[in-house]
Amino acid sequence: MWWLKEVWVIDPSQSLSAPRDVLVKGGQVLEMASSMTEEEVLTIAQGEPVETINAKGKFVFPGLIDVHTHLREPGQEEKEDILSGSRAAVRGGFTTILAMANTKPVIDNRALVEFVLLQGVRAGYAHVLPIGTVTKGMQGSELVEMVDMKEGGAAAFSDDGKNIQNAEMMRLALEYAKLTGLPIISHCEDKDLAGDGLMRRGVTSARMGLKGIPASAESVIVARDLLLAEETGGKLHLAHISTTESVNLIREAKARGVNVTAEVNPHHLIFCDEDITLTDTALKVNPPLGSRGDRESLIEGLRDGTLDMIATDHAPHTQSEKTRPFAEAPFGIASLETALSAVWQYLVLPGQLSLDRVIEAWSYSPAQRFGLSGGTLKPGSSADMVLFDPDFSEVIDSATLVSKARNTPFLGKSLQGFPIMVWVEGQLVQRNRTVI
Ligand code: DOR
Ligand code: ZN
Repeated sequence: MWWLKEVWVIDPSQSLSAPRDVLVKGGQVLEMASSMTEEEVLTIAQGEPVETINAKGKFVFPGLIDVHTHLREPGQEEKEDILSGSRAAVRGGFTTILAMANTKPVIDNRALVEFVLLQGVRAGYAHVLPIGTVTKGMQGSELVEMVDMKEGGAAAFSDDGKNIQNAEMMRLALEYAKLTGLPIISHCEDKDLAGDGLMRRGVTSARMGLKGIPASAESVIVARDLLLAEETGGKLHLAHISTTESVNLIREAKARGVNVTAEVNPHHLIFCDEDITLTDTALKVNPPLGSRGDRESLIEGLRDGTLDMIATDHAPHTQSEKTRPFAEAPFGIASLETALSAVWQYLVLPGQLSLDRVIEAWSYSPAQRFGLSGGTLKPGSSADMVLFDPDFSEVIDSATLVSKARNTPFLGKSLQGFPIMVWVEGQLVQRNRTVI
C-alpha cells in the first residue's frame, strides 16, 4: 500500500486541485483526505506494508493519456517497438497510449489490431490501445471493417501520416463512426498544397531557401472535415492542429455544435518556424512549425477549450535517417520522454498555461472523448497515476532515454519538472526516472 502525504492533487475529473493525503491499495486509489494519521492509515492497511512518500511540494495527477503515438511495430522496429515505446511512455508520465496505424504493414484488419493489443499487454508498461486505419492499405479508396476491428480492440481509426484526399471516403468514414462510436482521427493536409514542402511557407522559409508548405494545406482540410462532420454527425478528432485559421474554424464549428475535438502537439506550442536551422533536422515535423502568431493562437485555443487535448505525435526515427540533409530527413519528433517536462518548463512556469488545464487536456479530455478508463483519481478507480516533481531537473541524454529514438530537440539540454514515480493499475513502473 502507498501513502502519499501532503501531495498536491490535480484531478480535473473531480474539479480538484488541492493538497491531500492519498492512499493506494489493491491497484486502486482507495481514499483521499485533507490529512491522515498514521493510526488511521495502519488500520486501513490491515497488516499490509505501507510505503510512505512525503510528497509536499510535489503533484499527483492521473496518468497521462496520449492519443497520438507512433510505436512503429510491426515493421519498423529499428525506430521503435511497442516495448521500447511503452517504456518511454511511463518514463514520461503516460499510462495509456494510442498506437498510430501507419506501421508496416498498416493496421487495417482485426488480426493486426489484436497483435498490437497483445504486444502492449506483453510489454506490461502503459496500456497500449491500437488505432486502426480508416482505409485498406491506407490507400484512401476502400474503408476497413471498422465494426470488426472495434471488436478486436481498436480505439479509433486514422490514416495519420497521410490525409484522406477523397472527400466521399472521409464522409463515409464519419457515417461509420456513428455505428462504432469511435472517433475518426484526421491528419489534415492537402497533398497538392503541401507539395514537397519542407517547412511552413513564410518569411523564414524564404530566407532559408527551403520549399514552403502554406498554412492553407492544413486549414482547407480542417474546413472540409468540419463540414462533413456537421453533415453526418460522425465523431471527428483533428490531429496536430498547427494554424491560426484551423483554430478559428474549430472554434466556430464548436459554437454550431459540430461533433469535433482537436489536439495540439507540445512542439507546436513551444517552437515556431524561426527556431528551425538547416543543420538540425530535429524540428522537421509534419505539420510544420508555424509562425509566432500561430503559436499564440494554439496556446489561446488550448486555454479556451477550442483545442481539447494535448498529444505528443511521438514520431521516432533512427539517427541515420535524421542526420540526412534537411530535405531528405523524415518528418517527426520523438517526444514521449520529454513532452510533459517541456510543457511544464516552457508553458506552465512562464504562466502561459495552468498545470490544471494541462492535466485536463492530457488525461481527462482524451478519456472522455475516446471512451477510455483512466484520466481520473476518483476513489475506486484504477491507480494509473503520476507523481511529478516540479524541481527535478535532468539533462536529456542519449544514455538515459529508453526510447530507441534520439530525434528530440532537447537532446543535450536540461529540462526541469519530471514525473518521478508512475503507477499503472497501482503497480509502480517508474521510480526516480528509472523504468522498473
Ligand atoms: O511528423 C510526422 N511524423 N507527422 C506525421 O503525420 C507522421 C509522423 C510519422 O509517422 O513519422
Ligand atoms: Zn499526422
